[in-house]
Amino acid sequence: MKKKKNDIKTPSQADIIQAWIWNEEGLFLLDQRKLPLEEKYVFCNTLNKVRKAIKELVVRGAPAIGICAAIGFTIGFKNFLERNKNFSIRRITEEIGKISLLLETARPTAVNLKWAVNRMKGVCEKFLKEVEKEPITLKTLKELYFILEKEALKIWEEDVKGNLSMANFGKDLIPEGGVLTHCNTGALATGGYGTALGVIREAYKHKKIFVFVDETRPFLQGARLTAWELSKLNIPYAIITDNSAGYLIKKGKIKAIIVGADRIALNGDTANKIGTYSLAVLAHYHKIPFFVAAPSSTFDLEISSGEEIPIEERPSKEVLSCGKTRVAPLNAKAYNFAFDITPGKLITAIITEKGVIYPPYSQNIPKIIKGNKN
Ligand code: MRU
Repeated sequence: MKKKKNDIKTPSQADIIQAWIWNEEGLFLLDQRKLPLEEKYVFCNTLNKVRKAIKELVVRGAPAIGICAAIGFTIGFKNFLERNKNFSIRRITEEIGKISLLLETARPTAVNLKWAVNRMKGVCEKFLKEVEKEPITLKTLKELYFILEKEALKIWEEDVKGNLSMANFGKDLIPEGGVLTHCNTGALATGGYGTALGVIREAYKHKKIFVFVDETRPFLQGARLTAWELSKLNIPYAIITDNSAGYLIKKGKIKAIIVGADRIALNGDTANKIGTYSLAVLAHYHKIPFFVAAPSSTFDLEISSGEEIPIEERPSKEVLSCGKTRVAPLNAKAYNFAFDITPGKLITAIITEKGVIYPPYSQNIPKIIKGNKN
């Protein structure tokens, strides 16, 4: 696997905010648990380290964890080649199954994980079918390794391009004035540029916008990560507590809401960061638009409604503390659902890299997404 030192694998259109660096040594992930106070990287050169980084939110955001899983797949396959001398199709197939399972189960809600792993698995299956009559040597498998590396980079590259396209489709939908966003959907949560935050970035080039950033308890993706990105981009914003939205919408300060997604069902039901559903209800009541921005890799067309989306429950200690400080009584119990489901009927439009999708979603989502999804 000879390559020149520090051969950095990064898409040509990479963003000014770089959430990770991938080179021949491995994957360096900007530790999102520590931002914005510290900018430190976590180094992952094994499959287990990549899985742990996804599970523990070193890297988070649906598209970002999908891309990381694809890179993790490549790293896992490299580890396998380094550990073994004798190979057989059966042994390789077993290993691919093991790598896939470890990665796709790192977090349950964002379908991008499974989507990316399936794409990498598909590449392996195609390659192994082509060489099934030949003896399996290390040289053959190194060839597969380089194909996997290329595919992971392609997934990353496509995500960045998709975000730019989505931003372009969505920019005209955002009205002037205050726009509210929840969680973090920017460069840190994607391959670069961002989904909902990418739309805001693009709209800001053309009109006066002020961003209301929900702090997004308990991990504070809004207060820590979205605010960090907006500061770097010089886009005006203010952080608000998660329960401020109703008051500010009623006062006429917020003209539209835009969020990302972790999984979208055939009928438009959308899983996203906990608190999204309450925002959609507020938007509906106050008759302001509620937009979702997501790439086609976030659509799960195998499920007809949000009922089938598994919701991740995270440790209660994340809720019982604020940062490292315990805020609740020692015997307190807490629920920590990481996501909720917003019914499609509360969503004004879904902005994708292939165009803007309007209701009725069950008809219009497959028209735009189906057939084109890998
Ligand atoms: O728990 P997280 O931080 O991974 O949750 C992220 C979100 O809910 C985002 O809104 C979603 O993944 C879209 S990111 C472009």
